[in-house]
This record gives sequence, C-alpha cells and structure tokens, in this order.
Amino acid sequence: MKIYLDRRLGDVHDLISFSETLVCVQEYYPDAVDYRPEARLPVDFRKLDEFEVNKYTASLDELSIEDELDFVAIFPCDQQSEQALDFSPFLSLSPVAALDPSIDDGDRPSITVDRVSGLRLGLHLDSWDGLEVSSRWKSRNRIVVNRGPADRYVYLVPVPIEEMAESVASPEDLHPGEVADAYVRNTGRAPCLRMLQPANVAYVCCTERLVHDACVRAGGIRAESRHYLGHFVRN
Ligand SMILES: [Fe+2]
Repeated sequence: MKIYLDRRLGDVHDLISFSETLVCVQEYYPDAVDYRPEARLPVDFRKLDEFEVNKYTASLDELSIEDELDFVAIFPCDQQSEQALDFSPFLSLSPVAALDPSIDDGDRPSITVDRVSGLRLGLHLDSWDGLEVSSRWKSRNRIVVNRGPADRYVYLVPVPIEEMAESVASPEDLHPGEVADAYVRNTGRAPCLRMLQPANVAYVCCTERLVHDACVRAGGIRAESRHYLGHFVRN
C-alpha cells in the first residue's frame, strides 16, 4: 500500500511522517475520558528515511487505473471542483454518496466518534459496506476534503485488513473491525503513517481496508471535512 502524492503539495518529508509507537489513549492522555477502552493512537512521529519513502510513497503520476482501489492518494481540491463532484484526476465507478460534513477542533488527540456509544475510537476500521474480510477489496473507498481553516492529520496503518487477519487468531469468528482492533492491540510496533492534509486538499483511501483515524492540527481552530463514498479510481 502506497500513498500517491500530488507533487504540487510539496516535499514528501513535509507531508508524511512515520511512527512505530502505538499507545493506549486512556493511559497516555490523562484527559482522554471519552475514549473506548483499549483505544490506540500513534505518537513520536519522525521523518521517513529514504527506504521508507520508496516503500510507502510515490508520485501521483505513477498511479494508474490498474491499481484499482488499492491505493491512498492526496491531491489539491478546490471548492468549485467539490461542488461539481469533479474529483479529477479520480472518477467513481459507482454513484457518489455524500456523508454529513464534520467540524472538528484541534483540542483532542483524534476525531472519530462511535455513533452508537458516543466514545472516541482511536485507530479503527470503517464498515459502511459491511463486507467480510475476503471481500473488502470490493468496498467503496472515500474522498475526504479538508475545507479548513485548520490543517488536519490523517493516521494510516499501511497493512491491509487481509494481511492483519493472517496474524490474528480465528479471524473468521470476528467482525473485520474486531480483527483490526486485535491486530492493533497485539502489535506493539505497528507502522503508522501520518499524512498532513492542509485546507483545500483531499485524500482518497479505502478506510474499510486500512486502519485509520485523523486529528486537527493543534492550535485551537477548527477544520471542516466533507466525505464522499464511491469506487474512486485514477482516471
Ligand atoms: Fe473511520
């Protein structure tokens, strides 16, 4: 799994950083009382070395339709394009579904809240389409646009859920979200990438196959994000 970067966004070292340290949120952040038990988040990010740059990143020019849905990409997206659902150079092979926008503050370690319990999730797998692990490659991916004004950070564990299932006991008895949770809990030094998403920048990712979360860059201002589900491929 690679992140394909639109070079207009600048240098890879300014956009992507790396951690191998996942912490238990409730232990690491004393004020994190509204997290689910066992929630994990990455800390201690550092710059990628040259080996990791080649392993985890590539130029958007190198992405093709042959990569199907198995990629992450980040690219500029202005308001006009978003209103027209013109996510060039990506197009969706299925109708695009817009989810509710969200507005998040920079005062929390991460933003995703479980709709049922109201607790923050930390690293997690989405399940909009609800497919089993072996069929997740068919799930819709998503485009998330940051409308600002604050920058966002997106956390990604670059290990697809199918690979996670290989190192978890009896994955067939677990929901894919539980497979992801078990992997994250049991893997002390799981790699995690942090992608800077400035205002008016969008990313594409299959969040039903890749464990993720996001936060707003600290500093007290908010960021509005807009979410679109589809089968987005490189045009
Ligand atoms: Fe999510």
